[in-house]
Amino acid sequence: MPVITCIDDLKRLHKRRTPKMFYDYAESGSYTEQTFRENTSDFAQLRLRQKVAVDMSGRSTESALIGQPVTMPVALAPVGLLGMQSADGEIKAAKAAEKFGVPFTLSTMSICSIEDVAAHTTKPFWFQVYTLKDDDFMHRLIERARAANCSALVITVDLQILGQRHKDLKNGLSAPPKLTPQSIANLATKIGWGLEMLGTKRRFFGNIVGHAKGVTDPSSLSSWTAEAFDLTLDWKRIAKFKEMWGGKVILKGVLDAEDARNALSVGADAIVVSNHGGRQLDGALSAIRALPSIVDAVGDKIEVHMDSGIRSGQDVLKALAMGAKGTMIGRSYVYGLGAMGEAGVTKSLEVIRKELDTTMALCGERNVADLGRHNLLIPKGFEGDWQA
Ligand code: GLV
Repeated sequence: MPVITCIDDLKRLHKRRTPKMFYDYAESGSYTEQTFRENTSDFAQLRLRQKVAVDMSGRSTESALIGQPVTMPVALAPVGLLGMQSADGEIKAAKAAEKFGVPFTLSTMSICSIEDVAAHTTKPFWFQVYTLKDDDFMHRLIERARAANCSALVITVDLQILGQRHKDLKNGLSAPPKLTPQSIANLATKIGWGLEMLGTKRRFFGNIVGHAKGVTDPSSLSSWTAEAFDLTLDWKRIAKFKEMWGGKVILKGVLDAEDARNALSVGADAIVVSNHGGRQLDGALSAIRALPSIVDAVGDKIEVHMDSGIRSGQDVLKALAMGAKGTMIGRSYVYGLGAMGEAGVTKSLEVIRKELDTTMALCGERNVADLGRHNLLIPKGFEGDWQA
């Protein structure tokens, strides 16, 4: 087994082990992928202020997200099709997260169902929903999340229609995989993955197949989105979903200060500043550049989390220093899952925590709660000098 020292090592192994269709699904942004690229390159624009001769003993990355204690302020983001990256992937990721002491968010577009993940874990996880037009299905989905004891509903607000990811269309992405000559040729080279998949029954969208009426082809994300998603969504409807649930609500996919104020007014407990990992509006600002204006607008009244572009503990530190109370990682743990299953997710969390802890120490900080803009060197005009 190679020595794994960083998230990039896991990414390389993921690419080698998993069918191209699913690796590409994780690794794509929409259209030109400008936003996808800038999510990471903009993190690199921020520099850290080194502090020396500061007592660095007794450090802690512990914190709380929406009132729940965490060993570091990093939650696993909802990601579709985890069970195609590795057999029973959602169960593996949820187990790794609960052992590590961070929240796992189960996607509606998961392969393992809510019930299945609940049966294989002992601590509550978060559940993600899209804003669908079928109220009846939404009610049942929310009831299922309640019955599974989920401790927060993460409502994705930036995906009423799907931003096009070219590779998914070219690869014929579906669960289970569509068997074209190309995909058969590629699958034939992924023996370990294939053997694992033969050993599980979970190969369809477990939350949808058999639960959603009138959806003809839930095997494909794009056709399901086109049929089931609510184009008429507005803030009133978001408030209605919050009421249906009645518990903690996190609105994921906010990139604009005015939208953040709207999220506040519908009573959300937290927002996630996010451009969906660069998978939706290509040309949008990177999440790390959008973060400061949103923190300035609502940061003292609602918990602001951020995702999109985090590939290291240094990135987590930068997001926290820019004012986020929490972060979410997507690809960073999916690489681990695709590379090595549950152990790989654990590895990615360990890598990130160690990087966060070491970097915090070298910045002269002992506690994540003390991080702030004083730890950063922020280039002039970082947020952009845009016309009104
Ligand atoms: C779904 O949310 C996706 O980004 O593929």
